[in-house]
Amino acid sequence: MKRIAVLTSGGDSPGMNAAIRAVVRYGIYNDMEVFAVHRGYEGLIDNEFEKMSRRSVADILHRGGTIIQTSRSVRFMEPENRQKAYENLKKLGIEGLVVIGGNGSLTGAKLLEEETGMKVIGIPGTIDNDLAYTDYTIGFDTAVNTVLEAISKVRDTSSSHERSCVIEVMGRNCGDIALYSGITGGAEVVLLPEIETTLEEVVDKIREGMVNGKLHSIIIRAEGFPISSQEIIKAVKESTGQDIKLVVLSYLQRGGSPSVRDRLLATEAGEKAVELLRDGFSFRAIGEYAGKVAHFDLAKALEAKRTPREDLLESIKVLSM
Ligand code: F6P
Repeated sequence: MKRIAVLTSGGDSPGMNAAIRAVVRYGIYNDMEVFAVHRGYEGLIDNEFEKMSRRSVADILHRGGTIIQTSRSVRFMEPENRQKAYENLKKLGIEGLVVIGGNGSLTGAKLLEEETGMKVIGIPGTIDNDLAYTDYTIGFDTAVNTVLEAISKVRDTSSSHERSCVIEVMGRNCGDIALYSGITGGAEVVLLPEIETTLEEVVDKIREGMVNGKLHSIIIRAEGFPISSQEIIKAVKESTGQDIKLVVLSYLQRGGSPSVRDRLLATEAGEKAVELLRDGFSFRAIGEYAGKVAHFDLAKALEAKRTPREDLLESIKVLSM
């Protein structure tokens, strides 16, 4: 294979740049010409290619975001636009495409290969950790560390004022950011989209903490949890009389310099993607399994269902007593 392309798609995540760098440099090392597609699938449809050199990816390893931009392309959901994208790739003589993104982005890659035969490799890049086939997605570790830093700061002021706090984190369908930051940040309550929790249970937990002499309680709520932060705050105030504040971390979680774990996974995944294309493989999703970089059939990988680690939730209940 002589010409490959790489794109980033969906919500950006820390470590995407490290993956782009690895694809470009490892590709060139393997005598390939490497093209970047700007603005994800939107750029693929609109023919926005850039030929990359080793220097094009200099000084990006430590940077959050993606230097080639990203998009959530609604147009790419239509088969005629995927065909258009394929024709653009073909015109340039590109034989393999590396897609760095989350669930929707890798699904787009799967459809592209199924419909056109373009060889694709998926790299999991999303802070949500919502791809079940891999232990971790690139960006998740950095995002959780960002949340953890915020929890520590909120704890300082909360205990000083003897008030509680709801910290709202990202995760519409997957509560892993809430779960992992909750257990490592010592939260009293963690609310996930996947697990039903009633307002009464939340209030009881806060009351229990007050009875046990706690100066404050921290509630981590994933954005996809069905009861809103405002409703939770109202219920806690009315039932316990305790003051309680809201902190919404929002896009802070998506930025920042990637952690060691994210840089390493991104680098190894980028190398593996090139290696697979070089050796004639395609339709693979790269991930981490038992601490090592592994690759799986793309369609099967996307079918895998993630369930939250309920053992961690149980630990939180005991440790926060
Ligand atoms: O896909 C990652 C993510 O950050 C989710 O956690 C969040 O719900 C969503 O993206 C926000 O998307 P947008 O950038 O389109 O507002």
